[in-house]
Amino acid sequence: MTARTLPLGVLASGRGSNLQAILDEIASGRLAAIVKVVVSDVADAFALDRARRSGVPAVFVDPRSPGGKAAYEKRVAAVLREHGVDLVVLAGYMRICGSELLAAFPGRILNIHPSLLPAFPGLHVQRQALENGARFSGCTVHFVDAGVDTGPIIAQAVVPVLDADTEDTLAARILRQEHRVYPHAIRLFAEGRLRVEGRRVLVDAPAPGADGVAIVHPPLPS
Ligand code: GRF
Repeated sequence: MTARTLPLGVLASGRGSNLQAILDEIASGRLAAIVKVVVSDVADAFALDRARRSGVPAVFVDPRSPGGKAAYEKRVAAVLREHGVDLVVLAGYMRICGSELLAAFPGRILNIHPSLLPAFPGLHVQRQALENGARFSGCTVHFVDAGVDTGPIIAQAVVPVLDADTEDTLAARILRQEHRVYPHAIRLFAEGRLRVEGRRVLVDAPAPGADGVAIVHPPLPS
């Protein structure tokens, strides 16, 4: 299947390291996509600076202006449409997608979450992993549905949880894998290879040397 250049819109609330990983993957020629716009609900999000540095339009949409969540999401959807976005990529976007966004981009919103879903959805993810004594954690790229971190899973990466881990060290180990897995999942979408059947995502043509699902195992500690 031939890859096309997929127009992306990225929603981010913070530092934007996943955005940067996607921009870098595109710049390296390994991802046939283009970031058309970065939208943030936080005026001074570093993700907006990263976008501007890469020559990508950076738009702040104020979530507190009149009309509540529906009006806010309508404005976000309008910005994404104006920029010709086909796939919406949530990258550290700290809001739950509501019905306006879901309706504007049905089956076309991805999210990355720093755990092996369905374990540990929501907030304080690393704390949940540590408190529950998980031996492995990781990250998950999934389609977004109306729930919190509940949509069909596209790709995951596994990392070990070490006895000495703190929330920060575990988050950092997971983040390195996020930067590999998110571009991979977007590539599968761009190549038109993802099929959602119920809660499962099937990958049409396996990537060379893999079964189509990104399980990235770093070396285990000895
Ligand atoms: C990542 O850990 C992501 O999984 C979570 O929020 C964090 C965003 O990091 N949803 P960044 O803004 O991409 O650096």
